[in-house]
Amino acid sequence: MTSTPTPGTPTPALPATGGAVPRRTVPNTAPSGGALAGGALAGGAMPGTAAVGGAAVGGGPPAGAESGGAPVVGAPADGAPGAGAATGGRARVPMGAPAAELRDVTREYGGGNALVRALDGVSIAFPAGSWTAVMGPSGSGKSTLLHCAAGLDRVTRGRVLLAGQEITGAPDAVLTGLRRRTMGFVFQSFNLIGSLTAEQNVALPLKLAGARVRRDEVRAVLAAVGLGDRLRHRPRELSGGQQQRVAIARAMVTRPAVLFADEPTGALDSASARTVLGLLRAMVDREGQSIAMVTHDPAAAAHADAVVFMSDGRLVDRLVRPTAREVADRLARLEAAPC
Ligand SMILES: Nc1ncnc2c1ncn2[C@@H]1O[C@H](COP(=O)(O)OP(=O)(O)OP(=O)(O)O)[C@@H](O)[C@H]1O
Ligand SMILES: [Mg+2]
Repeated sequence: MTSTPTPGTPTPALPATGGAVPRRTVPNTAPSGGALAGGALAGGAMPGTAAVGGAAVGGGPPAGAESGGAPVVGAPADGAPGAGAATGGRARVPMGAPAAELRDVTREYGGGNALVRALDGVSIAFPAGSWTAVMGPSGSGKSTLLHCAAGLDRVTRGRVLLAGQEITGAPDAVLTGLRRRTMGFVFQSFNLIGSLTAEQNVALPLKLAGARVRRDEVRAVLAAVGLGDRLRHRPRELSGGQQQRVAIARAMVTRPAVLFADEPTGALDSASARTVLGLLRAMVDREGQSIAMVTHDPAAAAHADAVVFMSDGRLVDRLVRPTAREVADRLARLEAAPC
């Protein structure tokens, strides 16, 4: 376990690893109590979700009812830094439940001759307290998979569970509530609010959840992604990579139990990508949070605990703790001959 950062200081990025990180046992137990609390991503920031541009951002306060008092992952122990306060604690995944799960899910768009089967009978469990990367050719269904798992898109057939709770066919109000309590989402297209500054964008999910917004925490998480000097810039005044980092900060500031990230390093230079991947790794290793990340980059995927591969709306392979080269080789074979 990495040492606990000093309260009030930003969590340092993990060292660059060239795609490989020290491998560790995938935890399925409660973490030691919010090691990041007081750091860039924590300090009692209460998770929250907001409907922004028609989509959710951020995670949310505790799902006490769902967890039934059982031990949880992705949540500090009672009394630990970051636990409790205004909304009573952090988001959580009941012990033993996957962070998110799809059971035989099909997602179709359109109809007739224009029918597209974006997901075709997909079953997958994203383990809690673990980082799963999703790879595959363009159009293979990766974004659809993430959106369905997060309850941002409806499935045509099959079942979806988020943090142990069935969300298939759930009413919007239920979905919104669960998203607030549970997950953060980094969109492929960022989905920042154009009229708000970087700082205001990051603070938004906390505000909408009714949580106390501590300016120093918002600033710390922006500093952690390398944007400490861009607090008052609006999205149009930021580069694509900077906008992407604001979107990442916005999803991380709430300390969600489950973070869905759709190509979170797609617009980043290699140094910024390493910083972000280090922060994501720390979320899993120090906080027991769960990550499902789409990426086209084998080096990024190699930071994950497992990599799943999609082709034509189906899951076709899974590698556990592969190297970047192993990922690249598998992807090349997939693109040459799907499945
Ligand atoms: N709202 C939609 N309406 C119609 N078709 C859609 C919709 N969303 C996705 N699709 C189709 O579903 C398929 C999968 O799309 P998806 O965005 O999941 O792919 P992807 O693997 O994320 O691709 P990329 O790597 O380019 O982001 C594509 O053929 C796409 O055109
Ligand atoms: Mg996509």
